[in-house]
Amino acid sequence: MATQSIHKIAVFASGYGSNFEVIARAAQAGEIAAEVVLMVCDKPSARVCSLADAMGVDKFVFSAKEYPSKADYEREIVSQCREREVELICLAGYMRLVGEELLNAYKGCIINIHPSLLPAFPGVNPLERAMEYGVKVYGATIHYVDETLDGGKIIAQQAVTYEGDDIEVLTALIHEAEYKLYINTLQKLLK
Ligand code: GAR
Repeated sequence: MATQSIHKIAVFASGYGSNFEVIARAAQAGEIAAEVVLMVCDKPSARVCSLADAMGVDKFVFSAKEYPSKADYEREIVSQCREREVELICLAGYMRLVGEELLNAYKGCIINIHPSLLPAFPGVNPLERAMEYGVKVYGATIHYVDETLDGGKIIAQQAVTYEGDDIEVLTALIHEAEYKLYINTLQKLLK
């Protein structure tokens, strides 16, 4: 029987961490050919930090203000990733622009999920802004990361139709779509 190689991945997050949890669980269950060897977070008090501990995933947590520049903390991130032989970086609610250090070290190997049908509504509060706009078809996008905000070539998208005005209902629908989209995309990318 042919054996599938297991790829080492890192997940970056800044907050709640539900996408991190879904990816880490899928890896642990063998649903994706990956091992989550590192979780990187820029918010020491974020829920995702305790989640990583509970799931037995190594973490690197930093405060940007403790470094002289983005290049300095990204150099540390790159070294943490290299130490663990990370092949692919998955941004999952990491609310920082990725800079040159990281982009050059992991060229073409950084992907992000964003809760809109990009290029519509990049940046913060995309669901609120889309609802305000009167959008009827929302969605989620996974894309390669470049130096721009939620920019870079699109890999996969999932549309979500919702005509109501309850932001919490919409948020839950989008999250469900994101979880499936991230796992499906990782299954394809890691083949
Ligand atoms: C997700 O909806 C993700 O798409 C979004 O942050 C949320 C994180 O939720 N990312 C962005 O807005 C990136 N610009 P989670 O912490 O529960 O996974």
